[in-house]
Amino acid sequence: MRTINTGTSAVVFSDVSELPSSVQQLMNKAVEARKKAYAPYSKFCVGVAVLLANNQVILGNNQESAAYPSGMCAERVAIWKASSEHPGVVVKQLVITASSQHNKVSKPVGPCGACRQTLSEYEINQKEPIEVYFMGEVGEVVRTDSLLSLLPFSFDSSYL
Ligand code: THU
Repeated sequence: MRTINTGTSAVVFSDVSELPSSVQQLMNKAVEARKKAYAPYSKFCVGVAVLLANNQVILGNNQESAAYPSGMCAERVAIWKASSEHPGVVVKQLVITASSQHNKVSKPVGPCGACRQTLSEYEINQKEPIEVYFMGEVGEVVRTDSLLSLLPFSFDSSYL
């Protein structure tokens, strides 16, 4: 028998004002993206800002569909937009904010499992960790140092 350290670690900031100013700026952009989400069914809006190594910032938000499963999360919209416009450029940071028209979201909203899996592929390919920050509309912000922290034991191409 042996144990494996999955490397999970997270830092919690009490609110955005505690973040480094560059990350606050990214969060502001994620908020702007969130406000443009197309979420008429869930009324749950998610905005993402992705910082690339070439200093480009790519934004994304969730896009829903009347055929519900055909919608897409903000994280995948953003990472695919980044990869399609800037293929192979290293992703440094990914910042997420979420709000609801039903209630004030004050708990940090992490990416869903499918988004973690998708994002992890880019982290593995670039051989450099992606820092992920996530929050609700207000309140605490969580920082994880990598996708590996968010999704230990992820599936990858080495199994194929
Ligand atoms: N959503 C995201 O955009 N990201 C997540 O990680 C969780 C969920 C979206 C999908 C859907 O449009 C709405 O939030 C409610 O699930």
